Amino acid sequence: MNTAIVGLQWGDEGKGKIIDILAQKSDYIVRYQGGNNAGHTVVVKDKEFIFHLIPSGILHKGKTCVIANGVVVDPESLLSEIEYLKNNGLKLEANLKISQICHIIMPYHRILDKLRESKRTYKIGTTGRGIGPCYVDKISRCGIRAVDLLNPQVFKEKLEDNLKEKNEVFKKVYNHPGFDFKELYLEYLDYGRRISKYISNTMLLLQEAVKKNKSILFEGAQGTFLDIDFGTYPFVTSSNTTSGGICNGTGLSPGAVGKVIGAVKAYTTRVGEGPFPTEFKDALSNIIREKGREFGATTGRPRRCGWFDAVLVKHAVGLSSARQVAIMKLDVLDNLKEILVCVSYKYKGKIFREFPYDFEVIANAEPVYKIFKGWGKDSSTVRKFGKLPKNALNYLLGLEDLISAKISIVSVGSGRAETIFR
Ligand code: IMP
Repeated sequence: MNTAIVGLQWGDEGKGKIIDILAQKSDYIVRYQGGNNAGHTVVVKDKEFIFHLIPSGILHKGKTCVIANGVVVDPESLLSEIEYLKNNGLKLEANLKISQICHIIMPYHRILDKLRESKRTYKIGTTGRGIGPCYVDKISRCGIRAVDLLNPQVFKEKLEDNLKEKNEVFKKVYNHPGFDFKELYLEYLDYGRRISKYISNTMLLLQEAVKKNKSILFEGAQGTFLDIDFGTYPFVTSSNTTSGGICNGTGLSPGAVGKVIGAVKAYTTRVGEGPFPTEFKDALSNIIREKGREFGATTGRPRRCGWFDAVLVKHAVGLSSARQVAIMKLDVLDNLKEILVCVSYKYKGKIFREFPYDFEVIANAEPVYKIFKGWGKDSSTVRKFGKLPKNALNYLLGLEDLISAKISIVSVGSGRAETIFR
């Protein structure tokens, strides 16, 4: 059966570790949205690998790793990731496939991302990787796709058209000199040549895989509340991070998606700006950040930390039909006396049990907490669900109840072995 792993919070839930474990039993590992704004950390035998674009399944021999059409690709960043993995002894030629219709992130996207951000009254806190502007061009039908880099004439016309308009905007709106056609043209034709061996028709490849009953693992990036439609808009990324993004992002139909596993931390984190009702307002923030090593894998920014928000996660479970959940980083809570879980929000005397999309409400919502007793014991050595400390079990079963999904995996450390399958 095919499986999808999606984040149920604001990203950084630890999807990389679950994907790495499940990749062993999969034939294909597929990224379907986002770009190199993502950062998946995988620890193998004490060595840490950070992936931004290439599916982390590449660590396993003989797996086909696909960057499908819904992903936006920065060729410069892709080539340096390829180089990094090759230097670590991995072979990619036969196993990495990139969709010919992926949209390409150009330097003007990266610069525009930063310039727009600098002018915004309410900053989003983007990763500055050009993700948003690239998706904007895709939707406004002027984007450049991977296949275009392989056709000098088509690429020339598209780039000329783009620069004609963009250079005017750069000069007049942003006081930026703009971009030289010839320089960009030659640089990107060269990238095209260097990535051409990976480019293919991944829609057909995946449809064939489904026909042959191969198992596919869909690797979600970011998290539900960064989804362009369902997230805390406008403080979101520019793609569909929920399981619904899989179909358009791969060329497969809903029936091919299979089982959805939601990844959640045992608490909550968020990078960048935007509402976060359960954010810690005291020293606990630093304690959890240090213990959980909560620093962005892509930008190194300190992550904002807070209590588990069951209102948020329950909504995310529904949006992605995530019947099963992987609880990550339970061990980070080991030494706390009490653990709080948000069960509803209060605003102007009114109680909200469902996630509110009114920005005024979510930005000012006061969490209503249920208090669980801490367990004060090391959970990182436990390998069976039933052997977890009693109060840790109470916490997990309490969460299950609040979010209406079954906890099937519990992670108690960063290594592959520090995982409990229930
Ligand atoms: P963008 O995706 O770079 O446009 O950034 C939009 C928002 O999504 C910002 O708040 C980023 O911090 C956040 N974001 C993007 N990618 C990730 C991720 O992989 N993990 C966590 N947050 C992310």
